[in-house]
Amino acid sequence: MTDKATLNIGDKSYDLPILKGSTGPDVVDVRKLYGEADVFTYDPGFTSTASCESKITYIDGDAGVLLHRGYPIDQLAEKSSFLEVCYLLLNGELPTAPEFAEFERNITYHTMLHAQFDRFFSGFRSDAHPMAIMTGAVGALSAFYADSLNVDDPKQREISAHRLIAKMPTIAARAFQYSQGRPFVSPRNDLSYAENFLRMSFSVPAEDWKPNPVLTRAMDRIFILHADHEQNASTSTVRLAGSSGAHPFACIAAGIACLWGPSHGGANQEALEMLQVIGSVDNIKDYVQGVKDRKYKLMGFGHRVYKNYDPRAKVMQKTCHEVLDLLGHGNDPLLQIAMELEKIALNDPYFVDRKLYPNIDFYSGITLRAMGFPSNMFTVLFALARTVGWISQWKEMFEDPQRKIGRPRQLYTGATHRDYLAIDKRG
Ligand code: SDX
Repeated sequence: MTDKATLNIGDKSYDLPILKGSTGPDVVDVRKLYGEADVFTYDPGFTSTASCESKITYIDGDAGVLLHRGYPIDQLAEKSSFLEVCYLLLNGELPTAPEFAEFERNITYHTMLHAQFDRFFSGFRSDAHPMAIMTGAVGALSAFYADSLNVDDPKQREISAHRLIAKMPTIAARAFQYSQGRPFVSPRNDLSYAENFLRMSFSVPAEDWKPNPVLTRAMDRIFILHADHEQNASTSTVRLAGSSGAHPFACIAAGIACLWGPSHGGANQEALEMLQVIGSVDNIKDYVQGVKDRKYKLMGFGHRVYKNYDPRAKVMQKTCHEVLDLLGHGNDPLLQIAMELEKIALNDPYFVDRKLYPNIDFYSGITLRAMGFPSNMFTVLFALARTVGWISQWKEMFEDPQRKIGRPRQLYTGATHRDYLAIDKRG
């Protein structure tokens, strides 16, 4: 293949370099196009646009492949831990034992929140959606950790990254406890990341809390599955916010806000509520007809990139069965509905022709509900896990010597020049 593309506009032609990655589609470099040809490229929704160069995550949507720094997601989910995946995403390599011990200690010793921060939660109504609390609380972190806001200082960038990864479980658990009317529980340094989060979320002062190794492993694996996912909407939001020089707490708060949307991270809550609306296997046929009549979408299905089974959904389905079997909910009617719905959809031309497969959100809700989380906490857990992906992508963007503020243009179709008319001359 040649290393350039030629664009002909009128009687002029423009050579555009073609850049090659280590794998995946090549890109046509259009950075000079506007300056040379006075035209913009047009790609609402960025279906054909590479917004950046990255070394963090690679997705092959047709093959259903997801690699983090080259390692397949199913191997990481099976053999690694969430904190080890955090190190990998942030630093590019799996840690040696001493490197991991130091990283784990850094994260562990940043899990507490400033004592005054707890008052922040009581400003919310008790029925506030936990995502509303999360969005506000993470943005407010900058008011408590002003000593690590100088993004030009690599040490402060690292401390902010560690603080965010460490404190998200504490904030998420507080948002949950607050919504349940239960007292806050402080983190403990002798517990693992997932154990700490489950204890802060479910323990009550009236009795001792004991970790359940199967639930701890399932929680840790669910965090791994949600850790990063290339240039999705919320990650692109974090990158764009960060390109202005905004500090990481503000950028992650922006990412959380974007993730909340039902087409993105909010889909796990919507997918579970969809299964509850369907209510029984007998109702699936009518519900699917409603999808075909475009009354609503099949939540937890479809993906901008995956036109094959989302590899995370396969691991999520396996984890779902493990957790439900452990908790004695193996016959959970919602799981039966989900499995029957998947079977029907994967054999129905409407879905097959549109390459609609289950995504990460299809089985996560059933699992999290069985673990004791209400559906309004599902996206909070997604945000907790995705924080490491957001901060890794922010770090990569910020440390890119070619970094520029993101400033897209437009195709303008509004009114052209016209002069102001006094009100008595209008109408
Ligand atoms: C996440 O980007 C990421 O990586 C996101 C994510 C991550 O880890 O960050 O993977 C997390 O957000 C997963 C997706 C969760 N969202 C849902 O499950 C909501 C339901 N899904 C849809 O809203 C939709 O599939 C999207 C938003 C996920 C993708 O939307 P696209 O790219 O606009 O879909 P498309 O253009 O490829 O759709 C092709 C066709 C269209 O039909 P036609 O108009 O061509 O006839 O498929 C239809 C769509 O209408 N379609 C669906 C559908 N998804 C697409 N029809 C019914 N149900 C669906 N779920």
